[in-house]
Amino acid sequence: NKLKVAVIVGSNRRDSINRKLAGALVPLLGERADAGFVQIDDLPMYNADLEGSRPETVNRFTSEVAAADAILVVTPEHNRSLPAVLKNAIDWGSKPSDHNVWKGKVVVITGTSPGAIGTAVGQQHLRQILGDLGSLIVGGEAYIAFKPDLIGADGRIAIEGTRAFLQAYLDNFLSIAGKIAAPASVA
Ligand code: FNR
Repeated sequence: NKLKVAVIVGSNRRDSINRKLAGALVPLLGERADAGFVQIDDLPMYNADLEGSRPETVNRFTSEVAAADAILVVTPEHNRSLPAVLKNAIDWGSKPSDHNVWKGKVVVITGTSPGAIGTAVGQQHLRQILGDLGSLIVGGEAYIAFKPDLIGADGRIAIEGTRAFLQAYLDNFLSIAGKIAAPASVA
């Protein structure tokens, strides 16, 4: 009875450090989750004129999010906010309002940047937006200052303290998501 976790990376950069971090977080979810990456970098710019016949990429995106029990967002910060590519995906998922895919989702947020406060402000904006859309944002904070040795050649988190911190953060997420998304499976 695994939780279906949609992993969303808030960057469209080929060598994104946040995609690397997301890749290192999936093994920390372990056997409890069935995790899959949801692509956002091929979505067109949101335009209400397209609502009559939504592009196929948009329908793929919204159905993948809708099918998930819970969501892990790993995002950079752009100019002290969330990147436009992520905001654009959120906008698509929020419309039409009676098909808002964010409503009722358990969401955990983290992100990394080389800056000293590693995405803290961008994550706060994201919490506000998804909270307003009806997601339940798991508490706690995980702002990861990126260092070149954060992710090892094996793709895993190489700094032990950071790995343990993120493991606890994700354990708490899975525990809460498990209770909300699948109450029957909770002993
Ligand atoms: C940034 N970057 C950045 N970093 C940060 O910590 N706070 C910020 O507000 C910003 N602002 C910002 C704006 C724009 C337009 C760009 C392109 C970059 C730097 C950013 O953290 C760095 O480029 C990371 O590598 C982005 O993460 P990805 O795309 O590699 O995952």
